[in-house]
Amino acid sequence: MTDRPERLTARHLIRMKSKGQRIAMITAYDYPTARLVDEAGVDAILVGDSAAMVVLGYPDTRFIGIEEMATFCRAVTRAVRRALVIGDMPFMSYQVSVEEAVRNAGKLVKEGGVDAVKLEGGRQYSEVIKSIVNAGIPVMGHVGMTPQFFVSSTGYRLRGKRVEDAEEVIRDALEVARAGAFSLVLEFTVADVAEYLSSTLEIPVIGIGAGPKCDGQVLVLHDVIGLYERSPPFAKRYADVAAAILHAVRSYVEEVKTGSFPGPEHTQFMDVAEREELLRRFDG
Ligand code: KIV
Repeated sequence: MTDRPERLTARHLIRMKSKGQRIAMITAYDYPTARLVDEAGVDAILVGDSAAMVVLGYPDTRFIGIEEMATFCRAVTRAVRRALVIGDMPFMSYQVSVEEAVRNAGKLVKEGGVDAVKLEGGRQYSEVIKSIVNAGIPVMGHVGMTPQFFVSSTGYRLRGKRVEDAEEVIRDALEVARAGAFSLVLEFTVADVAEYLSSTLEIPVIGIGAGPKCDGQVLVLHDVIGLYERSPPFAKRYADVAAAILHAVRSYVEEVKTGSFPGPEHTQFMDVAEREELLRRFDG
């Protein structure tokens, strides 16, 4: 296991909320970007099932499995020294039975090395959350818009515009907290609901598309750095890494075609005597 001297825990995040300190969370799925986002000072890194879309190119998040998630988690935890690392429970890894949910959460911890797991869903998953927490694994909830359930529930739609829907989201969040979650993600939900939940719950509410009054924010790394073409409207792009990659690789292609790469600084030669001996051996 990688040694991470100053690493944050689930308790740290709760303490940050109690001190009024905002929590910055972002996703990562591989060693190099996890190392960078940790160095940049995020408090928590989510190995999100968004990897299905932004890394593996699937149309939605339902297609990724527990083995793939464990591999992504392992790559991230090998790199991270300070941030809390949370592994996302993929679709159908916790829906079939409580036993299977606990086993799969354990897999992300034992094989992926994560500190905690996250799972989407409200009241209907309170037994699952309780059992994973009882097994000794901290759980982050995820309510509001829940992408894994876009077919069976409300689609990729803003939650909480009408009072009945706002009430649904609030009841889900309260139950997830009561079940023992140490924190929860609130996705694509009106700011009024986010403000109510952040001020009511003792656990941190991490918003994504839920306005500024949450205890923290999370975004998908590929949206932040401009490496995915289908970003949601609530994401903010801070860099255009796609343009930087295109520029770099186009320059490389051009230099290979024209013969200007590799130059002398990227090329090694034999010592003169060795070269002469080689030529002598092969001469004729
Ligand atoms: O999978 C993911 O990246 C997520 C975030 C959008 C919160 O669940």
